[in-house]
Amino acid sequence: MKDYTIAVIPGDGIGEEVAPEGVKVLNAAADITGAFRLQYEDLPYGCNYYLKTGKMMADDGLKILKSFDAIYFGAVGFPTVPDHISLRGLRLPICQGLEQYVCYRPSLLLPGVKTPLAGKKVGEIDFVVIRENTEGEYAGAGGRSHRGLPIEVAVETSVFTRVGVERVVRYAFNLARARRKKLVSATKSNAQQHSLTFWDEIVEAVGKEFSDVQIERVLIDALAARFVLRPESLDVVVASNLFGDILTDLGAAICGSMGIAPSGNINPERAYPSMFEPLHGSAPDIVGKGIANPIAMIWCGAMMLDFIGQKPAAQMIERAITAVTRAGRVLTPDLGGTAKTMEVTNAIIAEMRASAK
Ligand code: IPM
Ligand code: MG
Repeated sequence: MKDYTIAVIPGDGIGEEVAPEGVKVLNAAADITGAFRLQYEDLPYGCNYYLKTGKMMADDGLKILKSFDAIYFGAVGFPTVPDHISLRGLRLPICQGLEQYVCYRPSLLLPGVKTPLAGKKVGEIDFVVIRENTEGEYAGAGGRSHRGLPIEVAVETSVFTRVGVERVVRYAFNLARARRKKLVSATKSNAQQHSLTFWDEIVEAVGKEFSDVQIERVLIDALAARFVLRPESLDVVVASNLFGDILTDLGAAICGSMGIAPSGNINPERAYPSMFEPLHGSAPDIVGKGIANPIAMIWCGAMMLDFIGQKPAAQMIERAITAVTRAGRVLTPDLGGTAKTMEVTNAIIAEMRASAK
């Protein structure tokens, strides 16, 4: 029996609604498999914490987080706090401070879910975007001068380091090798002549170690169009922080709903805990209605279990999610249904229990 400690940060908005649902499913997986135990600690970080303390998380928040095996994160951001404060105060310091340099975001069309792309079927959208998660356009290098004057200037510099690019690119190559052996590198080196030519060179150099993987370099604008027109041609996509951010909302949208898409902020070396969070954010428009789709959060739980070494439990959860979407009876409004958040969780747990019999 393995024991794990999990830091749960429900965060803001619907994060607070879906995180407990995800925990229910994790507990069911532990119970059904009998293979591991999870011990949780709820950390109250987020916008409410900020309004009370002036900080998004405790001063020693990173130190506290380092002692856990993984972090299960709901959402951050709420209209009461400017977005750059909430992001820079919580999610970014965690990703950067814990060297979660891989942001792993699958785009998988689930059975029973309608894609907005005409004519695309299950099996035709199944790829992973690997987003660089610690530097690039999110590095935070820059400033504002001459505030309020006509000559005011704002500078925000993208930062690309050899170590930073190489490590995420190598991760993406390894993933491609384990999948369908096709890697697309998102670039814009025609316009970004310093940083993204550097990116391209590193992709090419690392690619020499992966002669079995087919590499394609695609300009980000053309790649956005390709997500819509030919998603079946994609297997693994590696992209800078901002490009990856934009592409993954598109990836979630073509898979039918933001409410499904999971994400892992991963430190592959396991020097620090990794953090699993849905893509959807805090969704202030539906807070308190009990209709948030818990699938993304639940799927994140499966990714977390897989990462910490409990693959059978992860697969059981993923199969149960698929069974529920395929049946199409218990779906939240974002997927065209009328079910409440909890009803979806219960349906998934019922599937897990039934499959284990
Ligand atoms: C994401 C989100 C965040 C990001 C927001 C909340 C700042 O869009 O996880 O993709 O841009 O990284
Ligand atoms: Mg985003």
